[in-house]
Amino acid sequence: MKTELNLAVRPRRLRLNPAMRNMLQSVTLEKRQIIVPVFVCEGEGVRRPVGSMPGVEQMSVDVALEFLGELADQGFASYIAFGVIDREKKDETGSPALDEDNVVCRLFRSGRKARLPMVAISDLCFCEYTSHGHCGVLTDDKSTVANDQTVERLIRQAISHAKAGADVIAPSGMMDGTIGALRAGLDEAGFQDVSLLSYAVKYASAFYGPFRDAADSAPSHGDRRSYQMDTARDVREAILEATLDVEQGADMVMVKPAGAYLDVIAAVRREVYVPLVAYQVSGEYSMIEAAARNGWIDRERVILESLQAIRRAGADLIISYFAPALAKLLPR
Ligand code: PBG
Repeated sequence: MKTELNLAVRPRRLRLNPAMRNMLQSVTLEKRQIIVPVFVCEGEGVRRPVGSMPGVEQMSVDVALEFLGELADQGFASYIAFGVIDREKKDETGSPALDEDNVVCRLFRSGRKARLPMVAISDLCFCEYTSHGHCGVLTDDKSTVANDQTVERLIRQAISHAKAGADVIAPSGMMDGTIGALRAGLDEAGFQDVSLLSYAVKYASAFYGPFRDAADSAPSHGDRRSYQMDTARDVREAILEATLDVEQGADMVMVKPAGAYLDVIAAVRREVYVPLVAYQVSGEYSMIEAAARNGWIDRERVILESLQAIRRAGADLIISYFAPALAKLLPR
């Protein structure tokens, strides 16, 4: 028996040659859409490779500034700074986070002084600054992070970043009510023009493993599940988090991680009308680098494909450790 094929429509017609394929590419990936993460540490002339993230380094302020300057010349438009704090400076309440002379504030000031043509974003959290590695001050029984006390301190941290020159503040600690409190605090301090990018939808993900090595921020006891989102929860929780933050004044919202949460990116995109950022996190980066190093995948194609997928799901901007690699892979 001969099968009757219905071939009135042949999608392959539009794939037959490079010109046709090129004309029809609507998912774009451009350098200005990639936010460059940078780990800033103490010292001068320091470049310290991160073991679990081949190709990523902790950098002192001077080196970070040079690194960012080169990427700005290439067309990258923004960066997000993470502080790497010397262990002996850390304490229970994360005091170095409020020090106006810490590495993050110094990077913002030097960037401004050097007229670095990039939007400066600050990751606002205490996990890099506390001795226990949790994202804020602990409750008396130390079982979780005390929400409201932590928010009070986040306001002070945000003001210090704004003073130093941050254009965008990105709270990543998942404390309830953070966005409204930060907006009020920043406005009162005269920083109406500083934007808020909320890590609104942040899962308690195992994909953050390598970052905790890079930022030296692994919790010394327990985990972050009493404040970050449960990976097995329904997507409606993500919509609740994102809409709450938009109501409280978030200028942009983030979904994190990205690759395993494309459905969440797409759902949040439909519900909110502010720009959407996705974070391709450390584990996503390291898995690709590791497989590529073993010769198991084509590194360059997988990098591009992983980022295209995140853009296609609906992210306007993507934080990605592949920024330096993309400097070579993408046209100017
Ligand atoms: C918290 C923060 C984390 C990441 C970014 N901001 C760590 C965490 O929640 O444990 C992880 C990013 C990554 O894995 O690349 N300040």
